[in-house]
Amino acid sequence: MKLHALILTVSCLVPLTPHTSSQAADNASQAADNPALARRDAVVVRAVERIGGYDYRSNPAVVDAVMRQIRRSQGTPEFMKLVKRFKPDGIESQLTVTLIGDDRSASVESAELLLELDAGRKAIRKLLASPDQARGVIETLGLLGNGRANHFLSEIVTDAERPYDQRRAAVAGLARSKGGEKRLIDCATEKTLVGDTFLVAGALLSRSKDAGIRKAAASVLPQPAQKNSQPLPPIDELAKMSGNAAAGQKLFRGEATCANCHIVDNYGKDVGPNLSEIGTKLSREAMLTAVLAPSAGISHNYENFSVLTEEGQVITGLKISQTDDEVVIRTADAINRNIPSEDVVTIKKSEKSIMPENLHHITGQQGLIDIVEYMMTLKKKS
Ligand code: HEC
Repeated sequence: MKLHALILTVSCLVPLTPHTSSQAADNASQAADNPALARRDAVVVRAVERIGGYDYRSNPAVVDAVMRQIRRSQGTPEFMKLVKRFKPDGIESQLTVTLIGDDRSASVESAELLLELDAGRKAIRKLLASPDQARGVIETLGLLGNGRANHFLSEIVTDAERPYDQRRAAVAGLARSKGGEKRLIDCATEKTLVGDTFLVAGALLSRSKDAGIRKAAASVLPQPAQKNSQPLPPIDELAKMSGNAAAGQKLFRGEATCANCHIVDNYGKDVGPNLSEIGTKLSREAMLTAVLAPSAGISHNYENFSVLTEEGQVITGLKISQTDDEVVIRTADAINRNIPSEDVVTIKKSEKSIMPENLHHITGQQGLIDIVEYMMTLKKKS
C-alpha cells in the first residue's frame, strides 16, 4: 500500500499529459541530469520493481521515470536489469543502434537483450536481412552461445541463399558453444547444412572439447584424406598456406585436369563454370572446399545426370537440354551426346558432381595450395 501511495505521489509531481514513446524519450533525455529528479526516479523504479503485477504502463509519469532511469543506467549492469524487467516500448531501436555500433561488449549486451524481447527478435531478423549488417550481427550472436542466438544461427547455416561468409560466420559461432555444436551436428545429420561449409564445420568440431561431438563430427562431417590415407590439415589451416601461382597454373592446365572442364581466359574446355574471375567470387577457404568436396555445393546449373539407354549404356554428364525428341548430355570429356528419347530407359539425377573427387591425390598438398594460389589471382578485370 505504501508503495502504491509513493508512486501516486511522485506521479503527481510530474504533469500528466498523454505521451507517445518518443516524447517520453525526449522528456527523459532533457531531465536526465537533474539530481533531485534522478533520486526520485530511482525511488519510483525501486518501488515499482517490488510490486508484483503492477502495470507501470498504466501511469505515464511512472513510464517517464522508468525511461529516464534506464537512460541514466546505460553502460552499467543496471541497464540490462531494467530493460529486462520493464521491456519498455521502443527500446529495441535504441538497442539496435548499440548492437551495430563499434563497442563490442555493448553490442553483445544489446543482442542479448534484444533476443529477450519480441520486438527485439523482429529487429534482429530485420538486421539479418540487410546485406550490410548481417555479417556483423551474426558474429555478435556467435559470441552469445545461448539457445536463442543459436536458433538464429542454425537458420543461417541452412540458408543456401545467403553468401558463404555469412554462413561461415554462423558455423563458427555455433561451434563456440556446446548447444551450438549439437545443432551443427543435427544440421549435418539431417543434411540441411549448406554443403560448402561441410569441411569447415567438420574442422571446427574436430577441435571440440567434447569427445562425443568429435566422434559425431568425424562420422557426419568426414574430412578429406591424403592419397596415403593420412588426414589433410583442416581446411581453415590450409587456407592460411600460400603457394606458387605459376606452378598452380601449370598443374591446372596439365596434370590436375582442371582445364579439361574449366575455361580460364579462353583456355580450356567448357564443362564446368568459367573460372576466369573465380578469385573475385570465392575466398581461399571456399576455393579449397570447391576442390576438396566438389559434391558438397553443386550448383543448380551443373547437376549431374546418368542416362541408361536401351543398349544398356550409361551416359553420365550435365544435361544440356531435353526435348520430346532427344536429351543432350555433356560428358566429362566436353563431348555432347545426343540421345534420342526412344533410346532412353531412365534418367537419374546424381548426388555426385561431375567434377572428380580427390583431385588433390594427383597434385599432393602443395600442388593443391599452388592451384588455389593461382585461382586467387583470377580476378575480375576492370
Ligand atoms: C570433369 C569436369 C571437371 C573437372 C576435371 C574439374 N572440375 Fe571444377 N567443376 C566442375 C563442375 C561441373 C563444377 C560446377 C559445380 C559442381 O558440380 O561441383 C565445378 C566447380 C568448380 C569450382 C567452383 C566454381 C564456382 O563458381 O563456385 C571450382 C573452384 C573448381 N571447380 C575448380 C576446379 C579445379 C581447381 C580443378 C582441377 C584440380 C577442377 N575444378 C576440375 C567440373 C570439373
